[in-house]
Amino acid sequence: MPDLAYVNGEFMPIEKAMVPIEDRGYQFGDGVYEFIASYEGRLFMLEEHLDRLERSMRGLAFDPISRSEIKAAIFELAKCSGYPRAGIYIQISRGTAPRNHAISPGILPQVIMTIRPVKEIPAELREKGASAITVQDTRWDRCDIKTIQLLANSLAKQKALDSGCDDAIFVSAQGVVREGTSSNLFIVSDGRLTTHPLTNNILPGITRAAILRICEKANLDVEESFFDTETLYRADEVFLTGTVTEVLPVVRIDGKSIGDGIVGPTTRRIYDLLRKQALAGESA
Ligand SMILES: Cc1ncc(COP(=O)(O)O)c(C=O)c1O
Repeated sequence: MPDLAYVNGEFMPIEKAMVPIEDRGYQFGDGVYEFIASYEGRLFMLEEHLDRLERSMRGLAFDPISRSEIKAAIFELAKCSGYPRAGIYIQISRGTAPRNHAISPGILPQVIMTIRPVKEIPAELREKGASAITVQDTRWDRCDIKTIQLLANSLAKQKALDSGCDDAIFVSAQGVVREGTSSNLFIVSDGRLTTHPLTNNILPGITRAAILRICEKANLDVEESFFDTETLYRADEVFLTGTVTEVLPVVRIDGKSIGDGIVGPTTRRIYDLLRKQALAGESA
C-alpha cells in the first residue's frame, strides 16, 4: 500500500511531492497544520480537527479555504492508500513569493497532505509508562495556533531523548506546568483530574477535549486550572494526550517517581474509554 501525497489539487507518491523553495512555510514557518488519525478506516474527530485548522488559519489571517475541498482530498487519500490506521498530515502555508518579511498581496495558500500508517507508541512503553524531563517554555505566546514553527518543541524532545527520557514537559518561567512537546498533560491527585486551562500558552488538543467529555460522561472529577511543578511531582498519576499519543502514562519526571512509579488505574481507564470511543467511530 502506498504512502501518498497531495499538493495543491494533485495526488502522487510521497517521494514525488515537492514544494517551491520560496514557499513562506519553508522560509518563515508561515503555515499551519493538522494531524488526523484513523481507526479501522474511520477518521477520529475529523470535524473537530478541521474546525481547529480553520481557527489556526484565521489566527494567522490566511484567506479561508473551502472545507469541502480539504475534506474531499482527505477522503481520496484515505481511499487510495487503504490504510486502516492512517495518519494524515495536512499543512497549509501562506503561499509562495520572492522572499520578503512583508506579505505579498494576492499570495495564494499552498495546501499539502501526506498519508502514512500511524507510527504507534510501543505497547511496552504504554505498559511500563514513560519518563519525562521538564524544560522552560521558550515558545512564542500563541501556542494555541497550530503553526508549523515547532523548533522549540523539537529541541525539547531531543533534549529529553539525549537525557535518556521519552519526552519533555513545558513549564513557564513562573513554574506553571503547560503541556508536552506534542501532547497535552493531565494529572490525577486524590481522584481528581487537572489539566492546564485553554489559554494562548497551550494547544487546544482534540484529544484533550475528547477526554474532558469522556470524564464528564464517566462522572470523573476534572478541572481546568493552573498547577506548578511541585504539584506535578506529587501527583498520583500523570498522563499525556494527543492524536498519536492517545493517553500515555508518565511514571517518572526529572528523575522522581510519580505515585508508585507504575501506571495508575485512572490513566488505564481513560485510555480504555478513549480507545473504545475511537474504535466505535464516534466523536467524543
Ligand atoms: C504542542 C501540542 N500540544 C498538544 C497536542 C495534542 O493535540 P491533539 O490531541 O489535537 O493531537 C499536540 C499535537 O500535535 C501538540 O503539538
